[in-house]
Amino acid sequence: TIVLGIEGTAWNLSAAVVDEDDVIVEVTHTYRPATGGIHPREAAQHHAAHIGEVIGGVFSQLEEKGISHDEIDAVAFSRGPGLGPCLRIVATAARMISQILKKPLVGVNHCVAHIEVGVWKTAAVDPVVLYVSGANSQVLAYQEGTYRVFGETLDIGLGNSLDKFARSAGLPHPGGPLVEKYAKEATENIELPYTVKGMDFFFSGLSTAATRLLQENKSKNQNQNQNQTQNQNQTQNKNNGEKDGNVDPDDKFLANICRAYQETAFAMSVEVTERALAHTGKSEVLLAGGVGANSRLREMLNQMCEERGAKFYVPEKRFMGDNGAMIAYTGLLMYKAGDTLSLEESAVDAGFRADHVSVTWKEKNPI
Ligand code: ATP
Ligand code: FE2
Repeated sequence: TIVLGIEGTAWNLSAAVVDEDDVIVEVTHTYRPATGGIHPREAAQHHAAHIGEVIGGVFSQLEEKGISHDEIDAVAFSRGPGLGPCLRIVATAARMISQILKKPLVGVNHCVAHIEVGVWKTAAVDPVVLYVSGANSQVLAYQEGTYRVFGETLDIGLGNSLDKFARSAGLPHPGGPLVEKYAKEATENIELPYTVKGMDFFFSGLSTAATRLLQENKSKNQNQNQNQTQNQNQTQNKNNGEKDGNVDPDDKFLANICRAYQETAFAMSVEVTERALAHTGKSEVLLAGGVGANSRLREMLNQMCEERGAKFYVPEKRFMGDNGAMIAYTGLLMYKAGDTLSLEESAVDAGFRADHVSVTWKEKNPI
């Protein structure tokens, strides 16, 4: 079976063709905001401007591999959750391709796709999943026909909270990877609010607290510098105001805050994951979503799994952030289970929850 899948819920427009075993082709075009974070309308304009080139690229690479369009069995697309304007561009393209090729349409839940690609590309069979990305942060596991959500963020996603904090520190989007880089230079511990309630967590307060500490430190340093300059002028310092070669104290503080941010946010995520493991009695953990690229998060999860005797799985990095392959592969599972959509039912759903999906493809092969 061969399925074409298109992803474009937010920043990454990506189309791929897969079979049961592997990715056959994948073509991606990434929206990079000039300033600030993701603007939904700009992202949609990006997707509209490049969808032709992305799909065209997939078809011509297929041809080079000796696979004709006719061999595609179904056309899958990311139905949600995501940014409405972006979802509509991708859905329109998918409907059109499905009509032209006369092949069924499959509407895939983006969060479920992050999970299924991980199960596909690792040895995990029935894991507790920590899914942490830009807009979403959830702990899920398969139970009685759906991916049940055991805990989740009650405000914003971990990735978006990192991006927001990083922006306030003057760092470019996306901030997650930069926070990781700075954290490695940390020298001192700082306390930040740890907010887990029951099985759920909050990340907005953490972002605000980190931003506030950063600003307070900056204004403190500015005051000190002003005083120093005055003193230097008075004593005709022979350095003539040259930098003394030390690390900028603002950068040092930023590094400390970045590490504290990671330690706090990841400890919260690991705690809920651990409790879901205990609750479900499962023995595997799978990390999914863009924030899963973070090596400190992997280290912390791995340690928790070792202590509990559970197995820890992380797919290759290309399958962690948004990618066309995850939509194509989940589409393939759904198509084989007969889970396709008519044109009339194919509306997008910006708030589509993972636990509203009937996992039709596991019904025949229950775990
Ligand atoms: P969603 O699945 O919620 O729709 P998304 O579509 O925004 O998420 P993903 O690619 O799954 O996209 O995740 C992107 C997020 O991952 C961004 O917020 C980014 O900062 C974060 N991220 C990427 N690399 C790292 C890293 N090394 N450490 C921490 N966060 C990271
Ligand atoms: Fe995503």
